[in-house]
Amino acid sequence: MTRYVFVLGKNWMLGIAELIVYLRDRNLAKEVLDYTRTTAIVDIQEDLKDVELIDVLGALGGSFKIARVVSVYDRILLEEAFPAKGKVQKQARALLQQVPWAKKTWKNVKNKKVKFAVSTYSTYAKQTTIDLRKLTMGFNEWTKQQLIRMGARKVIYYVYEGPDKRGAKRPNVALWPKSIARHGLLSPPNAEIIMAIAESSVYVAKTIGVYDAQLQRYRDESRPYISEEVSTSPKLCRALLNFAGTRTGDTILDPFCGSGTLLMEAALLGMKCVGVDIDANAANGAKQNLRWLSRDLGERMSFKIVKGDSQQIDELITEKIDAVASEPELGPVHKDRPTKEEAVRHISELTQLYRTVLLKIGKILRSEGRIGMTIPVINSKDGQLSIDLEEMTAGTEFHVLMMLPKEAFESSIPKSKQLKITPDRPVLPERKRGQVVERGVVMLGRY
Ligand SMILES: C[S@@+](CC[C@H](N)C(=O)[O-])C[C@H]1O[C@@H](n2cnc3c(N)ncnc32)[C@H](O)[C@@H]1O
Repeated sequence: MTRYVFVLGKNWMLGIAELIVYLRDRNLAKEVLDYTRTTAIVDIQEDLKDVELIDVLGALGGSFKIARVVSVYDRILLEEAFPAKGKVQKQARALLQQVPWAKKTWKNVKNKKVKFAVSTYSTYAKQTTIDLRKLTMGFNEWTKQQLIRMGARKVIYYVYEGPDKRGAKRPNVALWPKSIARHGLLSPPNAEIIMAIAESSVYVAKTIGVYDAQLQRYRDESRPYISEEVSTSPKLCRALLNFAGTRTGDTILDPFCGSGTLLMEAALLGMKCVGVDIDANAANGAKQNLRWLSRDLGERMSFKIVKGDSQQIDELITEKIDAVASEPELGPVHKDRPTKEEAVRHISELTQLYRTVLLKIGKILRSEGRIGMTIPVINSKDGQLSIDLEEMTAGTEFHVLMMLPKEAFESSIPKSKQLKITPDRPVLPERKRGQVVERGVVMLGRY
């Protein structure tokens, strides 16, 4: 068994849920060992090769880096060595200075030039009892000295560069994936070391793979059909595909495919795609986008896009479907908050639409097939309104499955309020705060 650190995106709770569902579906792990608002630590039972781990990361929408744990410290040691306030304990510093994990990370550096970086991830987004900047610089220096002792010819380390747009108070001590790519830090003997600071332990890990944001941006911006108003983020699409339990080779359906963002992600993961949209422009646009992707990659991709109303989906498509993933129609785009009456009407119409489509999906989805979808959460002038899941699934073959099952947290024990996860909750927020229509994510399966 080997422990891994997954570096999570902004929506850490959704990222953890996706990770659990993905690993459980493949019998790779049943629970998370530890987690924070920036990282999740998991014991993977099988010994996976680096290329397999990079594939795992590539399939996850909510994780940005994967790293193999090489050592674990008690957090208290780091608090003593680099306190945010108060006196430094010299003994603690002397202990850490030896960086014993360097020998596990670098096997042979004799006469080589080594480039590396230490990226530190804190427990929460803001407050911490450790001086993260001093800690990061300390470990950078000590690791450099150790590498020279190990015989390296030249050693250079990289630190965070450029403005961090995630908020002034957030500690800027981790390298972005693009900086790692630019400096070639994943080609041996170069390396990135991750320090994941959890509530009681600190995990030192060597990065195996990082999310390729540049490639994603290129695809987002270069595809021929872009519909800004309704398009779903590719990372959310990957998460929905994982909640739907998809695998390479599966035939997947998006009954509200829009410009085809989700289908493009599915095609990239080797799935056969079926999409339906009531709007002819969207259906044509999705076709153009998938054709473009296929040409761009020089690979034949299997896709079928139909213009039509998904309330009759069983008459529109003949394929047997393995999984359904979708950001469905979410109602009108509001500039201002609607009145409660308006919101109630929209929610009621959408509930009926989803229910009808679910009834029909029951006829074409294989028996163990799951559904990953978003639902609207409307901020009206008089509070928040969302879909009643019981009403949405009433009379259909589907019910809500838990994305954060209680058993998946057996050994993870964060006590602080900021890390509290309520397991067994039916909907997880995919929040873009301040929007009139926010979204929730749900996972459905059969009775
Ligand atoms: C939120 S958008 C999907 C966005 C898509 N994931 C993307 O990234 O482009 C919802 C889509 O559902 C379509 N739609 C609405 N009602 C429908 C229906 N009854 N059957 C099929 N498509 C429908 C709309 O035309 C719209 O393109």
